[in-house]
Amino acid sequence: MDNEYSNIAKLYDADNRAVFSADIDFYLKRAGRLGGKTLELACGTGRIAIPLVEKGIPVWGLDYSSSMLDVMNEKIDRLSADAQRRIHPMLGDLTSFSLSERFKLIFIPFRSFQAIESDEQALQCLSCVYRHLEDEGQFIINVFKPRKEIGEWWLSSSERLDFESFLENGDRVTRHSIQRAYDLEKRLLYTDYTYRVYKSGGQVEQFRDSIRLRYFYEDDIRQLLAASGFTIKEEYGWYDGTPVHEGNEFIFVCGKA
Ligand SMILES: C[S@@+](CC[C@H](N)C(=O)[O-])C[C@H]1O[C@@H](n2cnc3c(N)ncnc32)[C@H](O)[C@@H]1O
Repeated sequence: MDNEYSNIAKLYDADNRAVFSADIDFYLKRAGRLGGKTLELACGTGRIAIPLVEKGIPVWGLDYSSSMLDVMNEKIDRLSADAQRRIHPMLGDLTSFSLSERFKLIFIPFRSFQAIESDEQALQCLSCVYRHLEDEGQFIINVFKPRKEIGEWWLSSSERLDFESFLENGDRVTRHSIQRAYDLEKRLLYTDYTYRVYKSGGQVEQFRDSIRLRYFYEDDIRQLLAASGFTIKEEYGWYDGTPVHEGNEFIFVCGKA
């Protein structure tokens, strides 16, 4: 499967950019206000799900990467017994899932919807979301906003440093990326990530994965949501409430139409 983060899952949480933390509080407040059960699709390492269960919110988290879920399960082992009862990690595909629960809040954070390769799969995913959402529930989806029409400008010829941070054991870690290719017809972007861990003894370990993301222009994502029976109730460009046309992201808070 694509986009599984198999080689880099253990280093995924080392990201220290604002985009990696600003959304946690946003989902925490929403889930707290709505009350009831929450479903995070493509929950990964539990970067968001774990803080939610720590605050008392019952969370079901679905992801198809066993490497990412392994990291989440290590975090679950360290939770209190109470919090452990509130979290339900599940191995599964966000384009075809069927659960016995219905949810007050369903969210697909941090651009994970862009891992879906085609409109057909996107519609399948949104139809699953619709079926699992309570009638008065909220569905929140985030995709990044392309700065302008994708073209040659998007490609990079050499590595770019995304971030540098430190692991719990003190080892320094860096992530570099290369924007390697794009497909205008299928609207796909291919990026290679290289993580390097600088050990205290001087050795450097290297881990690589390639990620394929679909990009959405504003009309595309609005049309997909409308075609799936959702109405956009709120829309933002960043997690602090920045208006949608001013921020770098599309964050749509939807309800059933
Ligand atoms: C960028 S990570 C986001 C993880 C987490 N939600 C977060 O915000 O940190 C994307 C996640 O999407 C998952 N993923 C991609 N395609 C998927 C699919 N079709 N079904 C389930 N999970 C998927 C990957 O395994 C990965 O864990």
